[in-house]
Amino acid sequence: MSVLVIIPAAGSGTRFGGPIPKQFQPLGGKPIVQYVVERFLLSGFVEKVVVAVTDALLVTVKQAPGDHVQFVAGGETRQQSVMNAFNAAGEDFDVVAVHDAVRPFFRLTTFAALIDAARESGAAFPGVPLTDTIHATRDGKLSATVDRSNLVAAQTPQVFRYDVLRDALERAMREKVDGTDEAGIAARYGYDVRVIAGDPHNIKITRPEDLALAQAHFEEWSAE
Ligand code: CTP
Ligand code: MG
Repeated sequence: MSVLVIIPAAGSGTRFGGPIPKQFQPLGGKPIVQYVVERFLLSGFVEKVVVAVTDALLVTVKQAPGDHVQFVAGGETRQQSVMNAFNAAGEDFDVVAVHDAVRPFFRLTTFAALIDAARESGAAFPGVPLTDTIHATRDGKLSATVDRSNLVAAQTPQVFRYDVLRDALERAMREKVDGTDEAGIAARYGYDVRVIAGDPHNIKITRPEDLALAQAHFEEWSAE
């Protein structure tokens, strides 16, 4: 079985702010995205990692032929970045994982469970139950309270059979549907998308305070 990992890392991090995009902020002495790529390569499950980066960065990265890591130009949206990486990767894979560049704390045991589930059902993602009460609002006022008992927050890595992700991405592009994750797109086109228990530590670094949390968590994590 051959596993491809796609890492969208071409965002500008508007919510994080600052001059250096969040995926290049340091964690354990290296840029977060490098740390993430290395974790996948060292897992022993992964054949190839394709990283979508901005055009400006693409001209400065050295591409080693035959390497297990490939860099491609990202797109306007996360989904376009994923599509560009998918198209550049080649076809020789059974399973594809898509993982945010800014989620350094994914678990390899969860990744393995996701791969198994995706091979069986076509697609799988890690979800964590919500803990806050969720209200809908309108015009600055609470309009409805949402039943959270069936709600989960979607994390990555999200894993798909190769043909499932190809079909879902192609249909979404054709219909101009721009999703914030691929599990949602696969479900939209009728595929069975299984949810596997995620991990509250698998945070997406989105705002500056998330980086402080991640750096504090890092040493405890790497000692595991
Ligand atoms: N991403 C990407 N291409 C884009 C937009 C986002 O590859 N055009 C990537 C980001 O680099 C990140 C992941 O998608 O690794 C998750 O997106 P998000 O956390 O929203 O990052 P940004 O879009 O960079 O941040 P923001 O939404 O705050 O601008
Ligand atoms: Mg974004």
